[in-house]
Amino acid sequence: MPLREPRRVLVTGGAGFIGSNFVHYWCDRYPVDRVVVLDLLSYAGNRRTLEALEGQENFRFVQGDICDRTLVDALLKAENLDTIAHFAAESHVDRSILGPEAFVRTNVLGTSTLLEAFRQRWNKRGCPQSDRFLHISTDEVYGSLGPDDPPFTETTPYSPNSPYAASKAGSDHLVRAYRHTYGLPTLITNCSNNYGPYQFPEKLIPLICINILLGKSLPVYGDGQNVRDWLYVGDHCSALDVVLHKGTPGETYNIGGNTQIKNIDLVYTLCQLMDELAPNLPVHPSRDLITFVKDRPGHDRRYAIDASKIKTQLGWTPQESIQGSLRRTVKWYLTHRDWWEPLLSEEYQAYYRQVYA
Ligand code: NAD
Ligand code: DAU
Repeated sequence: MPLREPRRVLVTGGAGFIGSNFVHYWCDRYPVDRVVVLDLLSYAGNRRTLEALEGQENFRFVQGDICDRTLVDALLKAENLDTIAHFAAESHVDRSILGPEAFVRTNVLGTSTLLEAFRQRWNKRGCPQSDRFLHISTDEVYGSLGPDDPPFTETTPYSPNSPYAASKAGSDHLVRAYRHTYGLPTLITNCSNNYGPYQFPEKLIPLICINILLGKSLPVYGDGQNVRDWLYVGDHCSALDVVLHKGTPGETYNIGGNTQIKNIDLVYTLCQLMDELAPNLPVHPSRDLITFVKDRPGHDRRYAIDASKIKTQLGWTPQESIQGSLRRTVKWYLTHRDWWEPLLSEEYQAYYRQVYA
């Protein structure tokens, strides 16, 4: 374990997919740190994901809203927090198309509430330069690439296309402005598509795995030729660790896996893995379940991240290969039915019908 001063970290959205993976990563790696999770437990938050940590002395879970200024102020003060790792968000593009307002509220207003609370607390603490506000953002703020365009760099102009991407872009701009105006020790990361354990069933990879297990059709939007750049969630966590410890305040770092895959090819690979790993599938071969459906409105064609800045300046590269970690992820969904089955609630079914009807 590295020799360093203990940190007191607020993790917003720590019961969601990436946030919970980050909390497990951080508590394993830095057991002397205090970790306080603030999560509203929206449909995407799941306290069971953190149950192994409940009762541990350095861990605390608080159910609450990042838009609740009184609560955030009280937490920052009572816990004397010096670091915020801000994951909390409405994160699903399809939901943002159905109802953008929640995205503006949580992603823009919520980030603004946290920034303002952090600013006032930071001033009261005497403006320590070692404090950190780490804002976890997305490559979607950069818009969509053509087939031959170079990958997004940190200087690619913002061009968000979905309400989700626009709300994340708004939050990035606020973080940047707080650095510029008030000198807060902020950091921004823009990451590509993550996969791994504890991802909510609405996202492509868990959705395909679960639908194969249930014998349901596998909906592929449009022509299936859209490209995403996939990164294993554990690699995202190690990148955030490096950015928090070695990143220069005020800077933005792109994070990506250098693994561009067309959606249809990813779905074929998942079908192959499922056919190999899952006994007694309702439909075999599972690729017979693939159904091309109406495209997502405004669907971005291609994302790709140029992660050379974090590599050259901070020495981070992803450790996982897509083959190994995709296989592990598929096995995880196979063996954790007790985790995902309760999430297929009536509310989720209603959402599903709305998107895929
Ligand atoms: P997620 O939807 O799985 O989790 C979001 C979490 O935030 C949930 O636990 C939810 O309960 C919580 N939350 C929502 N509104 C809240 C509020 N008002 N107050 C407190 N908590 C609230 O999302 P994720 O996929 O883990 O993404 C986490 C962050 O990473 C997001 O900011 C997202 O934009 C960013 N990101 C995600 C990906 C990806 O591939 N999933 C890639 C790049 C960046
Ligand atoms: O790029 C980072 C972003 O990745 C994050 O900021 C978002 O929070 C995260 O949700 C993810 O966004 P995407 O829209 O790329 O992820 P999703 O899993 O929803 O979809 C991946 C691709 O698969 C996308 O091109 C749409 C397509 N798709 C998705 C679903 C759910 C389908 O073809 N069928 C589906 O049913």
